[in-house]
Amino acid sequence: MDYALLLSTFGKDHGHPGWPRQRLLHECLRHAIRTGTLAAGTRLVATRALAAELGVARNTVLYAYEQLASEGFVVPDRRGTVVADIAPERSRKPAPVPQAGLSRRAQNLRHLANRPDAGGAFIPGLPDLQAFPLALWRRLLDRAWRGIAPQQLNYSDAAGEPALREAIADHLRASRGVVCEARQVFVTDGSQSSLDLCARACADEGDTVWLENPGYGGALAACRGAGLKIEGIDVDEEGMAPTAQDWQRRKPKLIYTTPSHQYPAGTVLSLARRMALIDGARRCGALIVEDDYDSEFRHDGPPLAAMQGLAPYAPVLYCGTFSKTMFPGLRIGYVVVPPELAPQLATMRAQSSMMGRVADQLALAEFLRSGQYALHLRRMRRLYRERRDALVLALQTHLGSIATVHGASAGMHLSLQLPDTLRDTDIRAAAMAEGIVVNALSMQAVQDGCRWNGLMLGYAQVPAERMDDLVRRLAGVIHLAAYASGGSRRRQKA
Ligand SMILES: Cc1ncc(COP(=O)(O)O)c(C=O)c1O
Repeated sequence: MDYALLLSTFGKDHGHPGWPRQRLLHECLRHAIRTGTLAAGTRLVATRALAAELGVARNTVLYAYEQLASEGFVVPDRRGTVVADIAPERSRKPAPVPQAGLSRRAQNLRHLANRPDAGGAFIPGLPDLQAFPLALWRRLLDRAWRGIAPQQLNYSDAAGEPALREAIADHLRASRGVVCEARQVFVTDGSQSSLDLCARACADEGDTVWLENPGYGGALAACRGAGLKIEGIDVDEEGMAPTAQDWQRRKPKLIYTTPSHQYPAGTVLSLARRMALIDGARRCGALIVEDDYDSEFRHDGPPLAAMQGLAPYAPVLYCGTFSKTMFPGLRIGYVVVPPELAPQLATMRAQSSMMGRVADQLALAEFLRSGQYALHLRRMRRLYRERRDALVLALQTHLGSIATVHGASAGMHLSLQLPDTLRDTDIRAAAMAEGIVVNALSMQAVQDGCRWNGLMLGYAQVPAERMDDLVRRLAGVIHLAAYASGGSRRRQKA
């Protein structure tokens, strides 16, 4: 708290510029305590220090403190003077700032369905945080900090630390079939920041962007934020399914897709569709944003290479994140861009956000280079596959007759398609009341016309041994709703 500022503001606002200093100080502190500016429990600055700071005699401060103590606003304790616990007067509240002060963009934002700190079954997207090798990460961070020179405390390279860009490029070439060099890799603050960059760098306001429908809310937010025209494209069992009409009448400038594990339905974009998407994008001069958010976890079948590496010079911006393979709070992701775009994007990145956090980046580079990251991935893959198996078995046992599982072959969530007689949002609400958190697929619609009606079940942080019980309870909710809807249909017929 800057007492000199407090004092001069108080003097001006309350029209007592001529008061003696001791009275002004006393009134000012009393006002600050009454209005809650100085909260209960706050320790007042020592009298000698405050006198020096304000340039007044110590007696002036002593007088003010004694007055406050005699009125009960402060209490002495062993180490000085502390603000007493009185309810602050906030009755004369100024008028709140009007909502109209916000842009339409901000006013129209949808509230997130889940709190970011929420946990438990079946929150999608969260890795098992208990399984992260925290002790090892602490050692890597410690080592990185010890090697840092004072000049590295300045802003760092806007595209990311060279060592990390190199390590990411090596990892992507070897494990995802991405064709790239380090100079094409931009380190970001996570996928959201990558998507913002892609949306602003590769399309102008009013340009058309294709989003999968249903699709990832983060991509919708980034594209809306960039002022793009949103066109939702249907998703079927083979992933994003644009029609010939879509290509003719809704020509895109940008196409966002999650080909390895569609978010939220979980379907995998077939090879034929991938090639068609690349061809179509080339023909209309569009760029594809490939969000490969959880593909490191492939549970069945051969690994699927990224779209980016499928064809030479594919017009693809490839986004990845460490939020799923490590932990979301790390806030490190990356985007791999075609080499021709790299210089302009570097300029844009440098002008839109200053990079820092060198130690985190260097520790991550070492995690990748040392092989510990690959080891951690193997462990997580085993753990998540075991949990996926337990979930699929429980779903077959308790819900096999009524719901269909999609997207179980990869990632950290699967989807459960419900019959049309049940509304996924109703089931979600009923399950939430039972303490089971599930997302409704229809809530991920980016536009009207979403044909998916079902639930999204994240299993990464649910122990295998709890799966059967949880699914049995969820099945109870679904069967009850099915019975009730059957009853209402019977009544309608009768
Ligand atoms: C489709 C998709 N992309 C990306 C992300 C990760 O975003 P970030 O790297 O910003 O944590 C998520 C997180 O849930 C996601 O679902």
